[in-house]
Amino acid sequence: MAATQDVKGKGEGGDQNFDYMFKLLIIGNSSVGKTSFLFRYADDAFTSAFVSTVGIDFKVKTVYKNDKRIKLQIWDTAGQERYRTITTAYYRGAMGFILMYDITNEESFGAVQDWSTQIKTYSWDNAQVVLAGNKCDMEEERVVSVDSGRLLAEQLGFEFFETSAKDNINVKQTFERLVDLICDKMSESLDTDPAVTTGAPTAKLTDSAPPLQQPGCNC
Ligand code: GTP
Ligand code: MG
Repeated sequence: MAATQDVKGKGEGGDQNFDYMFKLLIIGNSSVGKTSFLFRYADDAFTSAFVSTVGIDFKVKTVYKNDKRIKLQIWDTAGQERYRTITTAYYRGAMGFILMYDITNEESFGAVQDWSTQIKTYSWDNAQVVLAGNKCDMEEERVVSVDSGRLLAEQLGFEFFETSAKDNINVKQTFERLVDLICDKMSESLDTDPAVTTGAPTAKLTDSAPPLQQPGCNC
């Protein structure tokens, strides 16, 4: 099955008026809340119904930083193992990852290390990662402590937030932090080598709007 058959992106798709485009991915076990997290961020809504993602989906959201218009192309991946070949194909070219687990699900936390290995295997070396312990509104069912999450993030070299898509806790902050990390990385690269931007061998940072990447394109 071709990966593009599983793509059904929504959002401000056709708008080419932006300064930068950042490709972000949300990954983690099935049911940790990836789709809900993106839904909350892009549409400020939440539903308790669980419709497991088939393959991959995306939404587009524009943010502003230092007068620059940054278009976020946010890919929501299926956590189910059977879609792994499709979803890992989208890691290439991603500048940032939100690696999510569910604080009420030990197994999803135990899988973080494996997801981190997937990032190292399939993405650029300088992709930025934020670890998100989702469903922090469910304190009574918590099985992963805040300290365990923070410690693991530290060990893996990731930033860390506990979040709730349901109660809208740290959703915006997680995305904003990831954007900041990517921007920092970009300016770091520019300081050392003006030709280098985000690690893409062919990508050049310019003041003019780059061409819009088509949905389904792996660049
Ligand atoms: P896959 O698509 O299978 O990989 O799952 P997913 O990670 O996209 O999970 P999804 O967003 O579909 O959420 C799974 C279930 O958890 C749904 O019933 C959501 O309503 C619920 N859920 C998601 N986020 C939260 C949260 O922050 N708090 C609570 N209480 N429930 C949540
Ligand atoms: Mg989903």
